[in-house]
Amino acid sequence: DWTTGNVIEEQVAHIREQVGDKRAICGLSGGVDSAVAAALVQKAIGTQLTCVYVDHGLMRKGETEQVEKDFVAATGVQLKVVDAEDRFLTALKGVSDPEEKRKIIGREFIRVFEQAQAEIIADEGPEVAFLVQGTLYPDVVESGGGTGTANIKSHHNVGGLPEDLEFQLIEPLRQLFKDEVRMVGQELGLPDEIVQRQPFPGPGLGIRIVGEVNKERLDLLREADAIAREELTAAGLDRDIWQCPVVLLADVRSVGVQGDGRTYGHPIVLRPVSSEDAMTADWSRLPYDVLAKISTRITNEVADVNRVVLDVTSKPPGTIEWE
Ligand code: XMP
Repeated sequence: DWTTGNVIEEQVAHIREQVGDKRAICGLSGGVDSAVAAALVQKAIGTQLTCVYVDHGLMRKGETEQVEKDFVAATGVQLKVVDAEDRFLTALKGVSDPEEKRKIIGREFIRVFEQAQAEIIADEGPEVAFLVQGTLYPDVVESGGGTGTANIKSHHNVGGLPEDLEFQLIEPLRQLFKDEVRMVGQELGLPDEIVQRQPFPGPGLGIRIVGEVNKERLDLLREADAIAREELTAAGLDRDIWQCPVVLLADVRSVGVQGDGRTYGHPIVLRPVSSEDAMTADWSRLPYDVLAKISTRITNEVADVNRVVLDVTSKPPGTIEWE
């Protein structure tokens, strides 16, 4: 009979047996799945696990700190943080095409992650044999049910490593649905901000800036996004909406008036959606007073933003994200 306690107990025993005295690596994305998978494996094998968090500089306000501080405090996990903001921003310089951005972010992510893996192996030796992944049941069904190994090509600039490293996969969430994963995470003592987090795309804010991505624009969007999230939470709406992307139209300016005179600033788009599975979505009918509060605060508190607009497009035809 299904209880989160049973699931945890079973998985812990299974992982211990699978790993033995070897070591494992787990990438943390800031999302629910990787966090819960890591916490489960940590419970099973403790310091035989090393987590890697790549800070690509495209996270929302406070999210990196959540992983670095709150997640580590809650689990005691051994964490390697790679600060790769400069590298990502340099790679994204001058790029405004959405697909190009996604490709660059994905490519850099793999490079940085593999480099971190190679460093861990150099430190900890060849007994690093396992890679933890937060694969859920719906992912298993979608991809035809296969499991097994991951082939990681090591880089030429890391000496003494084999050309091809083969990891065995640990996938402790393979039998679970999202809501069950959240329950397991809660039972494991993870902070609500992580366990109840709404979906957030891997490429992060990089695909929520229409136009070129740079530090200044990211900081601006982080402020606007933090205000929107704060007010939605304060209004008790987190469970009613699927997610609410906040988008900066960095290549658009419009005229406004504020304080002493004319402004010429950027619009911020609010994209609150309701959905079951993100395949289709409807725009959320948020209360006007909440929208008003968000709009007033963003235009007052975020420099260079003088307009807030609401996206009232369903999916299809609009996607949830703008890029
Ligand atoms: P779209 O924009 O396609 O988004 O309607 C559907 C859902 O997927 C999320 N999304 C992503 N998640 N990596 C992710 O992990 C991505 O590259 C990515 N792109 C979109 C989006 O936030 C929404 O929940």
